[in-house]
Amino acid sequence: MKFDLWRILFRPQSRMVSPLPGAFLMLACFSFLAPGFLRAEVALGEHGAVASVNEIATRAGINALKHGGNAVDAAVATALTLGVVDGFNSGIGGGCFMLIRLQNGKFLAIDGREMAPAAATHDMFLRNGKADSDLSQLGALASGVPGSLAAYEAAIRQCGKIPFREHLLNAAKVAEDGFPVTRHYANVVKHVAEDLSRFESSKAIFLHDGKPFEPGEILRQPDLAKTYREVARNGIGWFYGGAFADATEKWMRQNGGIMTGADLKNYRIEFREPIFTKYRGHTIVSFPPPSSGGVHVAEILNILDRYPLNKMPSNSPEMIHLVAEAMKLAFADRAYWLGDPAFAKVPRGLVSEKYAKQLAKKIDLRRATVVPEHGIPEKSNDDLFGKHTTHFSAADAEGNWVACTATVNTSFGSKVVIPGTGVVLNNQMDDFSAQPGVPNFFGLVGAEANAVAPGKRPLSSMSPTLVLKDGKPILSVGAAGGPTIISQTVLAIINVLDYGMNIDQAIASPRFHHQWSPNELKVENALGQQTFHALELLGHTLKPVESLGVSQAVGKNPKGKGLVGAADSRASGRADAW
Ligand code: DON
Repeated sequence: MKFDLWRILFRPQSRMVSPLPGAFLMLACFSFLAPGFLRAEVALGEHGAVASVNEIATRAGINALKHGGNAVDAAVATALTLGVVDGFNSGIGGGCFMLIRLQNGKFLAIDGREMAPAAATHDMFLRNGKADSDLSQLGALASGVPGSLAAYEAAIRQCGKIPFREHLLNAAKVAEDGFPVTRHYANVVKHVAEDLSRFESSKAIFLHDGKPFEPGEILRQPDLAKTYREVARNGIGWFYGGAFADATEKWMRQNGGIMTGADLKNYRIEFREPIFTKYRGHTIVSFPPPSSGGVHVAEILNILDRYPLNKMPSNSPEMIHLVAEAMKLAFADRAYWLGDPAFAKVPRGLVSEKYAKQLAKKIDLRRATVVPEHGIPEKSNDDLFGKHTTHFSAADAEGNWVACTATVNTSFGSKVVIPGTGVVLNNQMDDFSAQPGVPNFFGLVGAEANAVAPGKRPLSSMSPTLVLKDGKPILSVGAAGGPTIISQTVLAIINVLDYGMNIDQAIASPRFHHQWSPNELKVENALGQQTFHALELLGHTLKPVESLGVSQAVGKNPKGKGLVGAADSRASGRADAW
């Protein structure tokens, strides 16, 4: 049932692509539509490009570029604005992974993933011995300690050109002035209205006299504006150690939660070592654990690199079969091996070419195989990765590139707004494995590596990824949609590198996804009945869906100078450039 809701939320919109407002110096803007394809929106400009799921947020990113900012400023301006206009997907009450490539060639992987509160326990989501998803998805126990705000602040402090304060004040103005609710936003609220109305402070903001807003009505968030302004004035300490932390502790104490002011004070972002892997002579740079995305994007591409994919027509049954079999093997590994690297030993061997060769041997090109369990990658003393749901991309002409995926997990996260702050708290605790083999919201199963523990980060599928050719970035891509994020990211890369598609085509192209458990191949309806039939003959159990998530990308213009942004029309995405 939960999957049905998810499907409804990701239904493609029949919105027409309209000319971009104020696209100063924009060289071209067009939409792609061909048989068998959905549509993506694309914009080309010489100074920079931004792509996100929301027009107002993308515009904030472009404005940052026009006011002397770089791609990191554009990404953070977009992120903070998304927290206002698209708060059901992401916000400062949630977490993010931000992958940055600076013009000097350096990489930063900023881990702003939530952490479990200190009082979290292994079996906290069991009721009478059984995992209870209401506990991990809704209300006081569902939230991890949020990390996005600290990640954005660090990104700007280390790499930005515009003070963080200014980014916050700009977004605060959007929160205060309000914005017209889109059809997509109204739909999301309608589907979670009952849960939202359980919490007075959430109901007061996101429902109008107890009813969902109609498309076009103006939604104002003065409390969130105030929170952004307080952080602008006092720094992020106001959130992590001051009034926000106090208000959170108070609400949690009164409502059966366990998060304390000390949890917020102890929150730390982590700077991680990105994963570098090769595919078709390109370098793929991706996010390490606690993202499972980077590991499995690399693992799947390593397997596929052994096959001449471009000899199989794009989205033909044989191509889908091969890629789905590779996905299945990688997701079997995810369920067993992956977790926060500070708690679980994640073998580096998962992304080795030797292991990919071993896995590739398990694939039968004529028949869907049953994968009984995870594989055994090579182990080494250097096993730990990174010692130490919305995706947006930005790039500028100087060579700064950002891929960032941010989320409060499911729509409006835990549905809790800490009173007086306007901040929606995530329900990222559901990304832990509450009990071995028991699926979470996204049907994902996990093992001890991803069990709940105090201070631990729940495993994520978020896969912000950069692709380089001869050391220079050509693509920044990622997606939203739980585990399908990994598949969407792999497919976008294959579409560009194997099939020579432009990024808008790569994103519009129909998708498929296999996550090992359940043993079914999800296929977008646009792939067509004939393909479905051929896949069934190959032994796949199909689950047709309208849409598998939402992806955004920025790329180098393959035909010459400039940068291209592409936004997925499966949601009301918007790409812009100048
Ligand atoms: O981190 C993760 O993998 C999930 N919390 C992402 C959730 C997501 O993509 C929601 N969008 N459908």
